[in-house]
Amino acid sequence: TKDHMVVFTPSGKRGHFATGTPILTAARKLGVDLDSVCGGRGICSKCQIQPSFGEFSKHGLTSSDTALSDWNSVEQRYKDKRGLINGRRLGCQATVQGDIVIDVPPESQVHRQVVRKAASARVMIMDPAVRTYYVEVAEPDMHTPTGDLERLGTALKEQWDIDGITAGMSVLRKLQPVLRKGKWTCTVTLHKGHQDTEHRILDIAPGYDETRLFGLAIDLGSTTIAAHLTDLRTGEVAASSGIMNPQIRFGEDLMSRVSYSMMNPGGDVEMTTSVRMALNALTNTLSAEAEIQPNQIMEAVFVCNPVMHHLLLGIDPVELGQAPFALATSKSLSLHAGDLELSCMNPAARIFILPCIAGHVGADAAAVALSEAPDQQDELTLIVDVGTNAELLLGNKTKVLACSSPTGPAFEGAQISSGQRAAPGAIERIEINTTTKEPRFQVIGSDIWSDEAGFDAAIATTGVTGICGSGIIEAVAEMRMAGLLDSKGLIGSPAQTGTARCILEGRTHSYVIYDGTADDGPMITVTQTDIRAIQLAKSALYAGARLLMDEMGTDTVERVVLAGAFGAHISPKHAMVLGMIPDVPLDKVTSAGNAAGTGARIALCSVAARAAIEVTVRKIIKVETAIEPKFQEHFVNANAIPHATDPFTILRS
Ligand code: FES
Repeated sequence: TKDHMVVFTPSGKRGHFATGTPILTAARKLGVDLDSVCGGRGICSKCQIQPSFGEFSKHGLTSSDTALSDWNSVEQRYKDKRGLINGRRLGCQATVQGDIVIDVPPESQVHRQVVRKAASARVMIMDPAVRTYYVEVAEPDMHTPTGDLERLGTALKEQWDIDGITAGMSVLRKLQPVLRKGKWTCTVTLHKGHQDTEHRILDIAPGYDETRLFGLAIDLGSTTIAAHLTDLRTGEVAASSGIMNPQIRFGEDLMSRVSYSMMNPGGDVEMTTSVRMALNALTNTLSAEAEIQPNQIMEAVFVCNPVMHHLLLGIDPVELGQAPFALATSKSLSLHAGDLELSCMNPAARIFILPCIAGHVGADAAAVALSEAPDQQDELTLIVDVGTNAELLLGNKTKVLACSSPTGPAFEGAQISSGQRAAPGAIERIEINTTTKEPRFQVIGSDIWSDEAGFDAAIATTGVTGICGSGIIEAVAEMRMAGLLDSKGLIGSPAQTGTARCILEGRTHSYVIYDGTADDGPMITVTQTDIRAIQLAKSALYAGARLLMDEMGTDTVERVVLAGAFGAHISPKHAMVLGMIPDVPLDKVTSAGNAAGTGARIALCSVAARAAIEVTVRKIIKVETAIEPKFQEHFVNANAIPHATDPFTILRS
């Protein structure tokens, strides 16, 4: 038979194939990324391709008629039942009949790229640990006796080139009825982590099963727990939600939780139980929101600081409370959902926990490194992940340093009088007029400013419930710029500031942002105690950054990335005014949202990323803040607002 030139776009891969070669086969031979779940049986439609002749028409080929086969019965049946858009064909059914250019649409790529909304706008490649495969299994034969599992293994090897499978009891128990019900066809859900040599069968269903599979990317913070329910085929987030970490009642910050465990026998168990219960509740919320069954959740990836890490695992964190801050393990962990009593997902679901960097620098810092890739930057970049325990990374292609800093929960809206987590109704943006001292604000869930017409209607469903982390940062910085606050952080009296919004509460003043009238809600104020909590938090953050700079032997950084678990992005201008970060030109400060959460999502969607971060983490040099006397010195010096320079120079730049 005649050979034809076949070109795939966008990869540009090309080769010669005989008349009658299925397009899927040609794609596989050339290493073109064309998806298939059913293995070319015309069932799954994942292999859709778009014939296009652009490149060849230049060379005189004008007709498509001869280049591809006519619709065969399988393809026709699929088309009649489900439809195929825009002249698309099933790659496994259409065969080569002439020279042809074939476009592989993004949805048909196995390793489809997902554009991330991060500041760096990099793409992530889908390469999940959990995938489904459709197989046809040989029927048993008395003369060559083999078990059903062994014949399934042979089928996976022959049809998918998958070597080595293992199955637990729950799969073995259903294997025989499933195979018989599916008339010797089945869809298997396989898991293979980056360190596994074999594929583990997580589930098996008769025939071709189209149930979508999901994974959870969880950022388990000391104050808030944020989770994204993610479609494991597409990488799309189906639902996101956050809750407060119920361990707060055992202590606001990490060290108070470690002491709770030290002082109370069984305290660690109490904290482990409470966080696991919260995770189950959060999982249920997400499933309900996305309208999926808990059984569809097949994997969860966790990022967390070392104390949260140990408490999640049920390990007493006592060693993390004292030098030399030894971790039970710093390696990444691959576990079963049952190991962590996570009961609101598939019982066979897998858990992956990113590696920790050191005793005070956890898997959350590793996740930030995965998301923001400081080790790939040319510019000396400071990445600040703001939370109750802040993670800081400083570095570039040459080297990366990391530390954590105990900022306390103020930046997450906790320990703040009107504070709350980022949720609808929380004030997230504030401006204070420098002349009138009047504020205007926006709440989460509305993009209308409070002084605009329609604000009352805009907050009709959410109300104004409090102020979130990014809101309090803006509030304090705006108060400083409007002269309501001096550099020591003291709120002035009505006489000093010229506004009746500064009210006397006890012996100090508070600034009223919102009196509660528009929605009959609570009065939202910033009190002197709030300012002190923010000052402590920002001093700890700044001191951490300075310590890394000392260690790096530099007193300037070239770029700053601000990240935080709380919903809204931190405003670079306000962070600078407050003195949270070292001075850099304002256009060199970017906001990355929840970088640790993004890192968790990347790890959930990509086994290769898991392997890569394992290597990166071992190269990161860890700096210990707790035992470094200089940290205290920097901390004290950082108390003023801003730490050193006049805030108005920042505004003029
Ligand atoms: Fe499943 Fe083509 S590979 S329909």
